Amino acid sequence: MTDYSGPMRVLSGIQPSGGMHLGNYLGAIRKFVDLQSEYECYYCVVDMHAITVWQDPQKLREQTFHIAAAFLAAGVDPKQAAIFHQSGVHAHAELAWIFNCVARLGWLDRMTQFKDKAGKDKERASVGLYTYPVLQAADILVYKATHVPVGEDQKQHLELSRDIAGKFNHDFKAENFFPLPEPLIKGPGARIMSLKNGEAKMSKSDPSENSCIFLMDDADAITKKIKKAKTDPEPLPSEPDGLKGRPEAANLVGIYSALAKKTDADVLAEYGGQGFGVFKPALADLVVEKIAPIGEEMRRLEADHAYLQTVLSEGAGQAASIADKVVKDVKEIIGFLT
Ligand code: TYM
Repeated sequence: MTDYSGPMRVLSGIQPSGGMHLGNYLGAIRKFVDLQSEYECYYCVVDMHAITVWQDPQKLREQTFHIAAAFLAAGVDPKQAAIFHQSGVHAHAELAWIFNCVARLGWLDRMTQFKDKAGKDKERASVGLYTYPVLQAADILVYKATHVPVGEDQKQHLELSRDIAGKFNHDFKAENFFPLPEPLIKGPGARIMSLKNGEAKMSKSDPSENSCIFLMDDADAITKKIKKAKTDPEPLPSEPDGLKGRPEAANLVGIYSALAKKTDADVLAEYGGQGFGVFKPALADLVVEKIAPIGEEMRRLEADHAYLQTVLSEGAGQAASIADKVVKDVKEIIGFLT
């Protein structure tokens, strides 16, 4: 992180564009909980990112509450971390515009997520979808966040944030003004795959419902999905090396170890030699034990919009007190009148 000497801060965001799933939980939300006692943390529902593709306004409001409920139900404590909606802190948009003028077209042209999301017909994609990673850099740097917990799919966007921070510091001779944020990706759960295809990421936009375990799934649904998960005919190996070339088996073992907070080697020491007829019920029990209570709590919280609204508004106020100051300093640095 070069010689940056500001406070250690954590920021991360989740899009309100569909149901929260096991990948979001293991890749991101669970890390949010682990970090809150150690760092100053900012966790936002990134509604401005969500509208880069069409969102029904009523659904967008509901999804925003859904994500806030997921944060709280998983254990993020609003007394320890600011939980807020991105559009509630206008400094994100202000800094994003300035960063649009720092980032280079060539950098954005390399972003694989834009290519995946825009598909073949990129002429019809929104401009926002293209500059999406610039807004993400603003989300992070408007708090001068030093650490960003995310799943592996966000790695390239995080690298762009570092490039933008570095270019800003360099161009305006503002050495170490912005930190170069460190992605916190490592650990089991950084890349949870579809239950139907061990080579595709678990994703809320997957058309096959059975590919994805949602946090709101009840015990029955979880058990059925795991029972139907794609596997191969071999028994489990006794060591992690034996999972090579077996993406579905590797994914199920990975989910088990992430939830049990064990290594793959520990899990295979216990289940090596067993078939999926034994392993799948054990995995289903573990997922139900860890995930079903979160879903239940989310249902309870989602029924109380007034409470969720209060948490988000208070969080936005707290976040704005930091973000507004950073934007003010940025304006001075770049020569705007303040
Ligand atoms: P989003 O909303 O797609 O996903 C939210 C978080 O969940 C992680 N994730 C996964 N982790 C493991 N396995 C999976 N299958 C899986 N699917 C999703 C993502 O890596 C992410 O951490 N661009 C971001 C949102 C964002 C953001 C930010 C993140 C906007 N501004 C600033 C960090 C910092 C996104 O679309 O995440």
